Amino acid sequence: MLEQLKGLHAQALEELSRIDNPRELELWRVRYLGKKSSLTQILRSLAALPLEERREVGAQANEIKRALESSLEEKGKLLQEALLISPRESQRLDVTLPGRPLPTGRLHPTTQTLKGICDVFQNMGFQVIEGPDVEWDYYNFEALNIPQHHPARDMFATLWIDASMGEKARLLRTHTSPMQIRLMEMERPPIRAIVPGRAYRYEATDATHESMFYQVEGLAVDKGITLADLKGTLFEFCRCIFGEERKVRFRCDYFPFVEPGVEVAIGCLACNGTGCRLCGYSGWLEILGAGMVHPDVLARVDINPKVYSGFAFGLGVERIPMLRYGIDDIRLFYSNDLRFLRQF
Ligand code: FA5
Repeated sequence: MLEQLKGLHAQALEELSRIDNPRELELWRVRYLGKKSSLTQILRSLAALPLEERREVGAQANEIKRALESSLEEKGKLLQEALLISPRESQRLDVTLPGRPLPTGRLHPTTQTLKGICDVFQNMGFQVIEGPDVEWDYYNFEALNIPQHHPARDMFATLWIDASMGEKARLLRTHTSPMQIRLMEMERPPIRAIVPGRAYRYEATDATHESMFYQVEGLAVDKGITLADLKGTLFEFCRCIFGEERKVRFRCDYFPFVEPGVEVAIGCLACNGTGCRLCGYSGWLEILGAGMVHPDVLARVDINPKVYSGFAFGLGVERIPMLRYGIDDIRLFYSNDLRFLRQF
């Protein structure tokens, strides 16, 4: 039995020397010092041995047990230190791996379009000015030749803040045209400015109508400005944004604050004029309303209409990327669907 104990000790130490991680060390502990280990079996069977042999074997077995326990403790410490110094394989950093791409933000398609529009008009000498989204009835309607109870108010389904206040009523501006009045109050001619901003309408949405959308207002007032200047400016704008080939249509239209009034439409890019959902099967998509500033509007801001004249236009912004990229529903712009927005 003494021989068996010696062999067991040697074998245990030899195995221990090859162990290099805590999991194997625990298996080793169970194998050599656990309840079912050979050493524990020998210690348990001592009682059956003759007295002399029991003493000898017992002393030897206990000594081997203590020796194995201290070897186990020592090995445990060594492994612990090794783990602290060198990180585990899974934690090792491979500096040759390609980096993870960082998702970068991008500008909203409307913002990109607004920048493009502002560039074109700035190159033509227009300054860029912004105005308030919450407006007085006076600027949104009254000063633009649309008094209380005028039927033209129906053209602009209005989101009121306090409708009962008459001229002092506030509303969410239904177009950027109130800025025509504010600009002419702020500056004397010559004026050449554009106003990008939001407009709001209380109307059912569809593929080309949103309740919140962007417009760019344009205003030029000086001596001798004619409809030809308006046409030249808008044709140049369409050429820069849509290219030489794109068809542009000028038609008469009515807005109380201009005389004459026009509407400008672009040949539908989605169907090339044959008719589709985007253009309401007409082949054309209206992008702006415009005209010569009405003499009464000039007079209201103390600009003499006999000396000065001007043109104004109000452009729908979202319709430009819709035409350019064949987007067939304006509601995609503000529904926060990243699958849509990431394409721009
Ligand atoms: C106006 O808002 C006038 N203020 C334009 C104007 C300015 C005329 C200066 C004369 C002088 P209109 O309601 O047609 O007009 O709107 C102008 C453009 O805004 C339209 O051509 C269209 O492109 C866009 N638009 C109008 N309503 C909506 C809507 N609900 N959703 C998206 N775009 C719209």
